[in-house]
Amino acid sequence: MKLAIIGTGYVGLVTGTCFAEVGHDVICVDNDAAKVKMLQAGGIPIYEPKLQELVQKNVAEGRLSFTSSTAEGVEKSDVIFIAVPTPPQPDGSVDLSFIERVARDIAGAMTGYKIVVDKSTVPVKTGERVSETIKRYCKAKVEFDVVSNPEFLREGFAVDDLMKPDRVVIGVRSQRPVAAMKEIYSPFKAPIIITDIASAELIKHAANSFLALKISYINAISIVCEASGANVEQVAEGIGLDERIGRRFLNAGIGFGGSCFPKDLSAFIKISEQIGYDFRLLQEVQRINAQQMDRFVKKITDTLWVLRDKTIGVLGLAFKQNTDDVRMSPAIDLCQRLQKEGAALRVHDPKAMDKAKPLLKGATYVDDMNAVAEGCDAIVIATEWEEFKSLDLDRAQKSLSHPIMFDGRNLFDPAEMEKRGWVYKSVGR
Ligand code: UGA
Repeated sequence: MKLAIIGTGYVGLVTGTCFAEVGHDVICVDNDAAKVKMLQAGGIPIYEPKLQELVQKNVAEGRLSFTSSTAEGVEKSDVIFIAVPTPPQPDGSVDLSFIERVARDIAGAMTGYKIVVDKSTVPVKTGERVSETIKRYCKAKVEFDVVSNPEFLREGFAVDDLMKPDRVVIGVRSQRPVAAMKEIYSPFKAPIIITDIASAELIKHAANSFLALKISYINAISIVCEASGANVEQVAEGIGLDERIGRRFLNAGIGFGGSCFPKDLSAFIKISEQIGYDFRLLQEVQRINAQQMDRFVKKITDTLWVLRDKTIGVLGLAFKQNTDDVRMSPAIDLCQRLQKEGAALRVHDPKAMDKAKPLLKGATYVDDMNAVAEGCDAIVIATEWEEFKSLDLDRAQKSLSHPIMFDGRNLFDPAEMEKRGWVYKSVGR
């Protein structure tokens, strides 16, 4: 099928590339001309495993192209996906102005029936607004359908999540766009559920909020574990083997971050408030998440006492493993708090150092993770990168003034660390 994707951020670029990979003709549109040029030349603006190879392959095979003209994208496609940012506003609601702008641009370029699909994460009822906007601004007065098709990919695993989705959600107002939407997704061999538009929009917010709730739940359990001498990992395993609960997203740590969970929680609380429901359960999820970081910082200050004139080595800056994304990263937040207490920092991240530099100033960026501990008073694990598990502990032990580790992601085994002579503090164990 002929598809346009408006917006080449994480969702737009990965979606467009995977659609091309399964055989569709895809044109990706972005109003950032420099980004389009980079993509046309085979570069990609983000680190995402497997993505660059797939972009280059599909461009070479003629199924994937890039343009900065929305009109060109609309003209050449039957189905147009909107995948532009919906950034947070200070009051917790989301800024829908990019969506509105794109809806007008699409309307202005339509000369025949089109399916306009919203893939950006939006509050419930946005589809209605997009529909009204297109109707108002479409001079040609042609027919169209608006569809809500939320995306569930995780950064760092985006290609795999898109190629093998757990489910595809398609929210429609009429049956007319259903066959085309099913055709687009049939190569992915996933269960497809057809809903009304409002339900599809709600599924996205409800899913992300539930996952955030799961994390805050296990983080709350971690506090009880610390107070009672239990081990949160064993508790997570014990409850997670119940298929009704599941083990995933039960990793205790310094809390969730990123460009999705914090924003989507606030937006869901806000839209619920606007339509008359005070979503206190989700407010508590936010509170536990903030408290988890406070508790971890306290663990560090309780152990090291005064941080002024001390040097701390921090492993991890990205908001989670396998990405260079530092937006709303708990690791950056933690670093800034340690700096505020007067500590000097030596930091390392396998992929996110360039993106961290503008946000985290005054730290020493170290290229080799095994060199981070040199001259430090303690080492902190802030992101759950797999490779941190192979840190050269003997070398770190020799480099530190005293072997102290604060593991905010529970990567090491407490018994093993104690046996090696470390003062080792993790979360809920
Ligand atoms: C999340 C959802 O998982 C995706 O399904 C969704 O499509 C995406 O948001 C989105 O709305 O676009 P993402 O933000 O990429 O994906 O990252 P996650 O893997 O969900 O991790 C989010 C945060 O939770 C990270 O800071 C991570 O460290 C933390 N986390 C995750 C935990 O603290 N514990 C866990 O057990 C899992």
